Amino acid sequence: LLDYIGDSLHFGREPQCCLRDFVAGRTEPCYLYDLRHFTERYRCFRSAFAGLPHTIHYAVKANAHPVFLRRVVELGGGADVVSGGELQRALDSGVPPERVIFSGVGKSHAELRLALTCGIKQINVESVGEMRRIIDLAEALGRPARIAFRFNPSVDAETHPYIATGFRSHKFGIDAEAVMTCLALARQSARWVQVVGVSLHIGSQIVDVENFAEALRNTRPLVAALREQGFALSTFDVGGGFGIHYDTGDEARELENFARYAEVIRQGVQGLAGEILFEPGRFLVARCGVLLARVEYVKTTPYKTFVIVNTGMHHLIRPALYQAHHRILPVVQRAGPSRVVDVVGPLCESSDFLAQGIELPEVREGDWLAIADAGAYARSMASEYNLHPFPDEEFIVE
Ligand code: LLP
Repeated sequence: LLDYIGDSLHFGREPQCCLRDFVAGRTEPCYLYDLRHFTERYRCFRSAFAGLPHTIHYAVKANAHPVFLRRVVELGGGADVVSGGELQRALDSGVPPERVIFSGVGKSHAELRLALTCGIKQINVESVGEMRRIIDLAEALGRPARIAFRFNPSVDAETHPYIATGFRSHKFGIDAEAVMTCLALARQSARWVQVVGVSLHIGSQIVDVENFAEALRNTRPLVAALREQGFALSTFDVGGGFGIHYDTGDEARELENFARYAEVIRQGVQGLAGEILFEPGRFLVARCGVLLARVEYVKTTPYKTFVIVNTGMHHLIRPALYQAHHRILPVVQRAGPSRVVDVVGPLCESSDFLAQGIELPEVREGDWLAIADAGAYARSMASEYNLHPFPDEEFIVE
C-alpha cells in the first residue's frame, strides 16, 4: 500500500486516485485496505503448497472485516476462529460451517454449543476439562463433535514472549499425557466425539522457520501413538504464525523466507494425515493495510520532538504492547530536513506511541502519515479508550 504514496502512483481503475487524493478533505484517522494484495498473498500460499492436499483457514483474529472473509470463501478457504463472536462473524460473512475450525483455551458452554449446533469442521481441544465439556454438550444436543488435539510441542519459539504459545509452560495446547486421558474419554463416548486430527500453533510473528521444523518433529510421535491406538486421523493442523519483515518492509525477502517455510512444512508433515490445515493470519493480511493519521501538532520540548497525531495505541497497540516497529511515512513528502521524533497519540498515557526515536522527513500540522503494515492486529485489537471512536475501515480496491 505504501506504493501509493505521493502522486505518481495510482490505485483503483476509475477514477484513478492516490493516497494524497484519498486523504484530501478528511479529518479522522482511517484504516485503508487493499484486497488485491490479500488475494495475491492467498494465492501465493496456495501455490507454495501445490500438490499437498491442504486447506487455508484464515485466522479471523488478525482482521475480521467481512470483505476479507468473503474473499477467503470465494478462494475456497475457511476460517480459524477463537470465540463465539468470531464464529458468528465467519458464518455471517458466508463461511460455511464445515470450513470452520475453532481454537482457544477458554471456550465457554455457549460458544461450544454454537459450534456443535452449526456443525463446524473441527474443534481444537486444549484441555481435559474442555474435552469433558464437549462430550457432555454433544450428547445433550444430539450433535456429535469432531475434535483435534491442540498439542503443545514444547518449542521455545523466537518471537516476542507475549505471542509465543508453544512452550510447555504456556497455557496453550495439551501434552501427550493429557491427550491419553482425553482418548480414554473419547473411547467411552465414541458416539458423541470423533477424533479427527492433531493441531499445533507455536506462536506468532515467527521468522526462523527452524521453530516450525522442531514443532513438527516433536509432534510426529504423538500422531504415531494415536494411529497405533486405532484412531484414523484425517487432518493435521500446522497452525499459523509465519512472520513478516516489519522493519524493512522487504517483501522479496519475506517471500524467500516463505518458500523456506513451505519446504520445512512439506518435509515435516510427510505421511501425517490426508489433509493439512493452515491457520495463517498476519502473512495474508498485515501488508494489506495502512493506518492513516493526521498530524495535529508538532511539539518541540528541550528533550524531544513529538509528532502528535489523531490516532494512537487505541487503534494500533502493537508498538506499545510488543515494542513492535511499524514504518511511518508522510503521505506527501516535504523537502525540508528530517528530524528524530516520537510519533504519539492523544491518549492520556505515555505508552501511547506509534514510534519512538525515528527519523521522519519534515511534517507540519494537517499533514497525513501512513503507518505501514496495519492490516493485521490493528483494528482487531483496537479499543475506544478515552472514548475515541473506532476509525473507519475502507478498501481502495475490492
Ligand atoms: N492460530 C491460532 C490458534 C492463533 O492463536 C493465532 C494467533 C493464529 C492461528 C494466527 O497467527 P498469525 O499467522 O497471524 O501469526 N496480537 C499479536 C499476535 C497474536 C497472535 C495470536 N494468535 C500481534 O499483533 O503480533
